[in-house]
Amino acid sequence: MKKGLVAFLASLMVLTVPMGLSGSSLGSGQTVYAEAPGESGSAFDKRITQRFDTDLVMDHIYYLTEEIGPRVAGTEEEKETAAYIQDQLEEYGYDVSTQEFDIANRLSGTLISGEDEFAIRISPGSASTGEEGVLGEIVYSGLGLEGDFPAEVDGNIALIQRGEIPFWDKVNRAQEAGAAGVIIFDNAEALVPPTPSLGANQADVPVVGITKADGERLLEENMTAVITISEVTDQVSQNVIAVKEPKGKKSDDAEIVYATAHYDSVPYSPGASDNASGTGVVLELARIMAPYPTEKEIRFVFVGAEEIGLVGSRYYVSQLSEGEIARSAANFNLDMVGTNWEPATSLYVNVVDGAPNQVWQSASGAAERLGNDSLILFERGASDHVAFYEAGIDAANFIRREPGTAALEPWYHTPFDTIDKISESRLQEGGQLIGAAIYDFARKEHPGKGKSENRRATVSGAYLLNEDQTAPEAR
Ligand code: BES
Ligand code: ZN
Repeated sequence: MKKGLVAFLASLMVLTVPMGLSGSSLGSGQTVYAEAPGESGSAFDKRITQRFDTDLVMDHIYYLTEEIGPRVAGTEEEKETAAYIQDQLEEYGYDVSTQEFDIANRLSGTLISGEDEFAIRISPGSASTGEEGVLGEIVYSGLGLEGDFPAEVDGNIALIQRGEIPFWDKVNRAQEAGAAGVIIFDNAEALVPPTPSLGANQADVPVVGITKADGERLLEENMTAVITISEVTDQVSQNVIAVKEPKGKKSDDAEIVYATAHYDSVPYSPGASDNASGTGVVLELARIMAPYPTEKEIRFVFVGAEEIGLVGSRYYVSQLSEGEIARSAANFNLDMVGTNWEPATSLYVNVVDGAPNQVWQSASGAAERLGNDSLILFERGASDHVAFYEAGIDAANFIRREPGTAALEPWYHTPFDTIDKISESRLQEGGQLIGAAIYDFARKEHPGKGKSENRRATVSGAYLLNEDQTAPEAR
């Protein structure tokens, strides 16, 4: 399907609700309610909406982003976050388990010039340097075209601007000119440095990307620099799981509902929106739901290593038995539910194949009862719901985006994704809605649903990162 058509169909699927109870979105991105939030919906919804405490969600976001900071897969910070989540869940009365898994080796490193350390992205094809690093003068080498490399590049560090030719051509020429290291600076202003992709090639020297502003600074100051890159090996990450048993039945007879959120972040980013927001809301839903009996089993799964390719959720699903897969009814995945970026007034329900599955139906039912008109059904992977979808389980990701364009906040995956970019009212609106949907779905037994014969055939992750599935402005 053409990109424009996907966006157009998605825009036609905006949920409409009768006027009266419905909220209306203002330019400010705040929703004004005819009734106060938490006062509409069924008596069951109110168990969720009236007990949902946004201050507690903000406390979790504060702890993850300000006390811990970036929570990169495999690091101590990611482990510290897992321990915090486990403590919280135990306080709510759950038995909690953690599930450890191996993750791929990664490159880690620094670029230091004078007194300053520069923000870098390491090329996946970069060489390691050993602890002592590579020291050299910074030698400007234009765009890395033939003839752009002065003789002084030999034994020093080539500083090359992005553009015109592929990264590998620049790096390869720099190596031929004798460079001991390569720094590529961006050709356009951006919040984060470029990651120089070398395709399948492997460089013999360290290769890093920096921003345009940092490149110009290095150029002006005509300094020396040290690049240090090493491979981090034997890393593990972990999922944290709390199970709410179904009422009065053997737990291996009940359907299973999964509420998931990843708690890791990308390097340098405190990940307030992505995804302390989803983590905080799922913790709050676990707290609220603890005392209420449900027909279905609810599993609150806090996922590690999402940002390096959905590793935690794929591991989690791979460890489910055939019986558990057959009992698995739905996955509600919360990832980026609280941005205060003004245009992101809609709560997108991203479904891998775009079909209105049980998660969508349940969310749109709750939206109707609560008088919320912010939902949009959209065809998109790129988060942990993909792992559940691949196992044939109805799954969707809830994410705040701009209606129509599906754009995300400009500070997505940057150091600027901080707690001051979180909207308490949007956390509350989304948390209440998704909470009411999960509780309604889990409270009832849906006869005939969740049995293996109703499942779609298992499919591969063909949609994952397939930009053809995305509105052009979405990234
Ligand atoms: N929080 C994002 C979710 C997301 C969903 C972003 C849809 C953009 C569109 C998630 O953490 C993320 O960053 N996903 C990666 C892909 C993943 C497989 C590593 C992405 O979209 O680049
Ligand atoms: Zn992300």
